Amino acid sequence: MKQARFRHFGEAQRDDWALIDNRFRDYVADAPRRVLGHLHRLAGDHHGYPVNRYEHSLQTATRALRDGADEEMIVCALLHDIGDELAPANHAEIAAAILEPFVDPLNAWMIRHHELFQGYHYRHFFGQDPLAREQYRDHPAYERTVRFCDHWDQASFDPDYDTLPLEHFVPMVERVLGRTPHGGLPEPLPEEALR
Ligand SMILES: [Fe+2]
Repeated sequence: MKQARFRHFGEAQRDDWALIDNRFRDYVADAPRRVLGHLHRLAGDHHGYPVNRYEHSLQTATRALRDGADEEMIVCALLHDIGDELAPANHAEIAAAILEPFVDPLNAWMIRHHELFQGYHYRHFFGQDPLAREQYRDHPAYERTVRFCDHWDQASFDPDYDTLPLEHFVPMVERVLGRTPHGGLPEPLPEEALR
């Protein structure tokens, strides 16, 4: 497969960038498959929880779906813990970063803050303030983040729940992550424009 031959960006020409941009677009288009591949990795260790994170993710998405949430919200539910393995101390940021270019900014905020909001249900066991989320009471995403955590996320550790398989959600992930990212992707200028 063709590749550029520059040794540093100072040598790169328009054709190099056009070639790289082409490959990048294919790479972007294939991102949903890679994201779903990573989601599978959460099926490993259950970390002491009643279900592993993969099952928890599917269950969270299933509950959102059965509660009538829209497709974007269901995809957020499915992917909200995908950063658990790579960034266990900061996992919400990973999912928020993956989703942010394609979803409503309020949904990205919801995913970014879900860990703190979820803490309403356990922070007191660690000597922390379970009401810490109240600092965001006036935020426009407050209600949806409470709903996300209270109805779907914290409720989805039931090994006996009738959880839908991943296949059910794949087309949804492909549609949401297949959207044009906010702001679009920059395109290389035509040859004439550079003369
Ligand atoms: Fe979760």
